Amino acid sequence: MENLNIDNVPSYLLNILSNSFSQVNEKERNSLMDISKMMFIYLYNRYLLFRSSEDNRKEHELIVLSNVLKISEKMELNYSDKKIAIAVSLFHDTCFIKRIMEEEIRKLEEKGSIKEANLLREKKKDQRRDHMKGGAKNTKEALEYINKINPHGWTIFTDKEIERSEKIVLKHDLIKTDELYPKRINTLELCCHESDILWPLHPIGVSADIERYGKDINEKENWTNQVKENLKLFDDMRKKYDKKNVDDRFIEKTYFRTEEGHRIFSNWLKFWNL
Ligand SMILES: [Fe+2]
Ligand SMILES: [Fe+2]
Repeated sequence: MENLNIDNVPSYLLNILSNSFSQVNEKERNSLMDISKMMFIYLYNRYLLFRSSEDNRKEHELIVLSNVLKISEKMELNYSDKKIAIAVSLFHDTCFIKRIMEEEIRKLEEKGSIKEANLLREKKKDQRRDHMKGGAKNTKEALEYINKINPHGWTIFTDKEIERSEKIVLKHDLIKTDELYPKRINTLELCCHESDILWPLHPIGVSADIERYGKDINEKENWTNQVKENLKLFDDMRKKYDKKNVDDRFIEKTYFRTEEGHRIFSNWLKFWNL
């Protein structure tokens, strides 16, 4: 039971979690919140407690969770799909692999070392695949554990739900390896994806990037520049579809396909005065 020690979890994180459930309809709210809390405590003790700043911020999963609750509610996902969306939000990034920075690749290209740059780019893709594979394995392990220790005694995740969660985690970063995933038709996958990619516009996500590049968080200009840099990620992902002439009914010129994802994205633009 050491993985379920609530005393280790800072209460502000549990408060973020509880607050995000105001987005969920009253009928499903309490039971989904109970399950999420249990999963988050496990996530915290098993992974977040040991997470380095090189990896990601401890808040990442909760921000993704908050997005997924909004998007899945608006998309009217059923209860089972919502459970899966929550599990994916919480466990998708549990396998940390030291990342190769895009900057490193760009520098090689600028130097004219194209072969080395391409090699490094391929290595970066391999790392992504390992990250997804490891995350999928961890998700399975986590959900089986949650089933086993549920104080109410019933099965929270069916085998099918565990398998579906695992599969989504196994693919969650595929776009970064240039594969066009997800497609609009796969609503659950799309909800999970849009929730995750919004992270670099959240102030905590932006501050993590500023620090990752070794820049000063107290310089106002660094914030503006980092947000603009992070916005390019959305254009890059959209371009991958456009380049292959895949029309996946994106909203306007953005990379978003759900109304709610697009709304959150637009709100961030306003927040950053862009
Ligand atoms: Fe990831
Ligand atoms: Fe993520």
